[in-house]
Amino acid sequence: MAIERTLVLIKPDGMQRHLAGLSIDRLENTHLELIGVKIVSVTDKLAREHYALLEGKGPFVDKTLYERLINFIKGEYHGDPKRRVLALVYQGENAVQGIRKAVGATNPEDASPDSIRGAFGRICRKHGYYENVAHASGNVEEAEREIAIWFKPEEILK
Ligand code: CDP
Ligand code: MG
Repeated sequence: MAIERTLVLIKPDGMQRHLAGLSIDRLENTHLELIGVKIVSVTDKLAREHYALLEGKGPFVDKTLYERLINFIKGEYHGDPKRRVLALVYQGENAVQGIRKAVGATNPEDASPDSIRGAFGRICRKHGYYENVAHASGNVEEAEREIAIWFKPEEILK
């Protein structure tokens, strides 16, 4: 198995509900190596770069849903003028899949109860989005692309 790197974000719903610590506890249980951590104020540019590949795809063919996704990661629905997201990079064998498993399925109702999203996620019926607490890169290519967006090379340990 190859050594991989992967990105995790504790999203604004997770930050608002003070779930960063509990989420990291579960990430640490993978026994992967934590090589980068940073608190980030999410700009519109950063949000759009992060989600660029989802624009016009799947449910996001609906422009309103895509804009909601952008606003969500900018903390606009969670009352955070600082737009805080906690970004982490994990490294190790099969890191992408290992972290995805710890984070769980996209829809909190489908996510394993042992996962971050299964344990802490919820569906916001009022606004029609998932409050699924954390982002995890979907594959190695996505991971490297996303890490480069959120971190400068010197901010990550080798
Ligand atoms: O985050 P993940 O890779 O599991 O799912 P995605 O398909 O890449 O979608 C990105 C994000 O869009 C999800 O994590 C949710 O925050 C949001 N989403 C949503 O709110 N409602 C959906 N029906 C699909 C995605
Ligand atoms: Mg994804």
